[in-house]
Formats: sequence, C-alpha cells, structure tokens
Amino acid sequence: MANDNRDALLYTAAAEIKETLAALTARPGLFSEENFASRAEVLDELEFHVLDRLDGLLAEKLPAELSNLRNQATALRGELEALDQRLFQRLRALIRAGQCTPESLRALLEAYAGPPEPGSSPAATEYDALDTLTNGLFIDLAEPLATEAHDPEMVYYQKTPARIIFEMAAKISAHDTFYDLGSGLGQVPLLVRLLSGATTAGVEIEPAYCRYAQACADALRLTRVRFLNADARAVDYADGTVFFLFTPFTGQILARVLGRLRQVGQHQPLRIFSYGPGTQALAQEPWLRRLSPAGGHLYQLAEFRNG
Ligand SMILES: C[S@@+](CC[C@H](N)C(=O)[O-])C[C@H]1O[C@@H](n2cnc3c(N)ncnc32)[C@H](O)[C@@H]1O
Repeated sequence: MANDNRDALLYTAAAEIKETLAALTARPGLFSEENFASRAEVLDELEFHVLDRLDGLLAEKLPAELSNLRNQATALRGELEALDQRLFQRLRALIRAGQCTPESLRALLEAYAGPPEPGSSPAATEYDALDTLTNGLFIDLAEPLATEAHDPEMVYYQKTPARIIFEMAAKISAHDTFYDLGSGLGQVPLLVRLLSGATTAGVEIEPAYCRYAQACADALRLTRVRFLNADARAVDYADGTVFFLFTPFTGQILARVLGRLRQVGQHQPLRIFSYGPGTQALAQEPWLRRLSPAGGHLYQLAEFRNG
C-alpha cells in the first residue's frame, strides 16, 4: 500500500514537471539572442520548479521517466546559458572596440533586460534581469573573497542593484569626476563610466576586490576608470564632483569621510548620491541638502547637494 502511494506521488510529480518543462521550452522567442529577459525568467523557473523539485525527489529511487526529465532540463539550461554567453561576448566586443556611446549602450541593455518586474518595491535591495545582464559584461573570474579583517564600522560587500546605478548614471555628465566610496568589485564605477562618459574611480579597502575591479576595467579596455586600494578616510577627493555611497561604513569612519567631502565642497559644488540605511546619516548633515525623493525610502536612490 505504501509503495502504491509513493508510486502515485512520483507519477503525479513526473506529470507536473513534464508539463512545466514543456511550457518553459515553448516560450516564444526563447532562443533568439536578444530575448535575454525571457531567458532569465525561464532559467529561474527551470531551477526552482524543475531542477530543485527533481533534486527533492532524488532521495527516492528515480523512475527512468524522472531521470529523463532531469537530463532534458539540464540540456535546456546549458543551451540557454550558452546563448547568454554569446550575447555577453558580443556586448564585451562592442565595448572593447569603442563602438558604444553611453546612450546606445543604455538603450541596448535596457531593451535586453526588459522593464523592472511589476510590483517590485523598494522595501529592500532587489535584483533582476538587468543585474544578471550587467554582471555578464564583466570578466568570468570567480569573485574573490575578502582577505583582510576590518573594523566593525566597515560594512561587508554587497552590490548596488543595477537599476539604481542606471538611474544615477542618467544624472551624471561626461564632465563629472565620480567616486564610489567602498567600491567592492567595481561595478558602480565601471557602469557609470560606460553609461555617462564621466571619469570614474572606486575606493576600496579590500585589495582582492580592487584587483578584481581593475581586471574588469582592463578586460574591457576602459580608460578614465581607476580603482584605489585605500581607506576612504585617506583619499584626496579634490577633483571629485559626484560621490556615491552604498552604506560602506558607519559611525566615526563615515563622520571622517563626510568631513573630507565637506572640505572639498568648500571649493566647488558637490553632489552625493546615497543608497541604503546610510542615507539616514547623510540626511542629518546640516551642510547637505536633500533633493529627490525628500523623505523617500532607504532603498531608493537619494541625492544630496552641498549648500
Ligand atoms: C555595501 S558594499 C558597496 C559596494 C559597491 N559600492 C557596490 O555598490 O557594488 C561596501 C564596500 O565598502 C568597503 N569598505 C568598507 N569600509 C571601507 C573603507 N574605510 N574604505 C574603503 N572601502 C571600505 C567594503 O569592503 C565593501 O566592499
């Protein structure tokens, strides 16, 4: 009786997974290179609704039908990932050859990634197909681990969502000099350079992150983007016109860095963009004036000006 039940459950699971797999494979346009957004969605669903589910059943002795489904799903995943790789290589080649203007690259990437998911809210850090696509522009090296222990006021690495970087880059001009304070693996200075034409720099205390970021810039043959392996408290920002902080540090460290920016701002107008909980601390600074969105959510891009 127990075996009958188990067989019936496996039979039902196999029928459902087969149906899901057939529906995913039949998505219109899935195999055309530019349909990145649809592929990203299918890859996600394949992982969660097919492969993970099959893995859950793997504890059972799999009937041949289920292991066939597993092979089909793995083959589909491989085919879709290979298409994405070809797309990434083509985009990298365009960038290396200097064939993209900030406007043309933005248009291309936004078209491939599609609009933000409906109903996405800024209640937390959220990533989508634009993140997967922009990650693919940079080299395929394994992401390095931090090698050094740091002060508890220094915040661990986490990426800014690509949509936030795109929003910020649209407000930056080719005449600006931009700094990302606590630049991690470097995607913010790299994307701002590509999408605005500004001269950009990342300041990062972790040497392994800095080396990785510079390797990404070199692989794309980008000029006017550099990565400084330094404590943000010790950098000369005299040439900076725009700064970005995704909550890289808190407390005394933040106070010291803001003190330096305030000094720079005595000689020139500055814009400071912020994202995440650190925005609250910037909003308390009497020398900074918050522009849009006043009183907005912490996981929205906030813009401040001096004076
Ligand atoms: C939340 S992550 C932001 C990463 C990056 N801005 C991005 O959005 O992709 C914070 C980064 O700040 C770096 N960091 C923390 N304290 C620092 C300091 N005093 N000087 C330079 N970098 C620092 C951390 O190593 C980490 O990579």
